[in-house]
Amino acid sequence: MAAPTNEQIIEALRPVDDPELRRSIVDLGMVRTIGTAPDGAVSVQIALTIAGCPLRNEITNRVTAAVQALDGVSRVALDFTVMTDQEREALREKLHGSSQAAPGGQQGHGHAEGKSVPFNEPGSKTRPLLISSGKGGVGKSSVTVNLAVALASQGYSVGVVDADIYGYSVPRMLGADRDPVVIDQMLIPPENHGVRCISIGYFVPEGQAIIWRGPMLHKALEQFLADVFWDDPDFLLIDMPPGTGDIALSLSQYLPRGEVYVVTTPQPAAQKVAALSAAMAAKVNLSVKGIIENMSWFTGDDGKRYEIFGSGGGQQLADDLGVPLLGKLPLVPALREGGDDGIPITVAQPDSEAAQLLQEIARHIATEMKPKKIFSSALKVN
Ligand SMILES: Nc1ncnc2c1ncn2[C@@H]1O[C@H](COP(=O)(O)OP(=O)(O)OP(=O)(O)O)[C@@H](O)[C@H]1O
Ligand SMILES: [Mg+2]
Repeated sequence: MAAPTNEQIIEALRPVDDPELRRSIVDLGMVRTIGTAPDGAVSVQIALTIAGCPLRNEITNRVTAAVQALDGVSRVALDFTVMTDQEREALREKLHGSSQAAPGGQQGHGHAEGKSVPFNEPGSKTRPLLISSGKGGVGKSSVTVNLAVALASQGYSVGVVDADIYGYSVPRMLGADRDPVVIDQMLIPPENHGVRCISIGYFVPEGQAIIWRGPMLHKALEQFLADVFWDDPDFLLIDMPPGTGDIALSLSQYLPRGEVYVVTTPQPAAQKVAALSAAMAAKVNLSVKGIIENMSWFTGDDGKRYEIFGSGGGQQLADDLGVPLLGKLPLVPALREGGDDGIPITVAQPDSEAAQLLQEIARHIATEMKPKKIFSSALKVN
């Protein structure tokens, strides 16, 4: 049987996506030369975006499988080259626009650099969800990661920004421990369980304390939003640090369309602290859209529910703010273990009560909480 033509091989490679950029390797200009021998041996040269690309084996498998599937191919040999600086720059511009500050862009949001945060563009489809709380340890990060995974499992494209610069935890909880790839200053966020994430944890040596002050924090957050190739996700969840400090202020400036969801525990004291974070949101013109109560009960071996941290705090806060209580989550060891192991409970035990409740909250946020377009009453037809 005759070996396939170069055109046929290109067409076979067109559906093959670069695993990191999720675009056709043909469209990305990664397929360089193709050679065919009369005995059906095909050789393909692939230009990797960066030297030492961590997903080289995956690319090899995908390309080999695609070419091997063609009639008349006896074997496939791949060799690799690496894009030049100019090629990388062109690729980044194609995917992500110019790396230069857009003059005048974002000035209304009060930051000096003027770098464009794509989520503020009028056509952006991304809903930024700011998961916050007044105090630490109530389960913000666990809720953020599990909601992100739940939304991804429901078919949405999802990114997570770990905005807890001093106490980052998202990469571990998500099990996304591979460092981001950098293509000409564009960061490709690591992905796991269908969720992409970025965190300061990727940029500091393990165990090292971060002692940045305001401007540095501001800069890091800006880069997380503007320099990361988020690729227009449906949702960008922000794991907020505890409290109501600098980071919350910066983020509210970068994400004026952000929806704030407050996580609280059921005791009245926690609910008062959570109310502070709501007050903070109001001050910077963001509004709290809903409350999630965590650690609401523990089901003992006897099957009884024990309300270890009291009850009613979430509902009280929701009533005070005039927003819905989106759900209550039980205290379950598997939720903590999932965070420690990098396999969130929504993946590890999808049928468990906690995972089902998280799925339900995710569904509620995706559908019922979807911002409605506000039409001027003057334009009403009826
Ligand atoms: N519903 C739950 N059941 C059992 N353990 C939980 C639950 N929610 C959170 N945890 C555990 O409680 C601890 C604190 O949770 P987490 O780190 O998510 O909170 P946080 O609000 O992000 O904390 P921080 O303020 O330190 O960022 C973690 O060890 C986590 O695994
Ligand atoms: Mg946290």
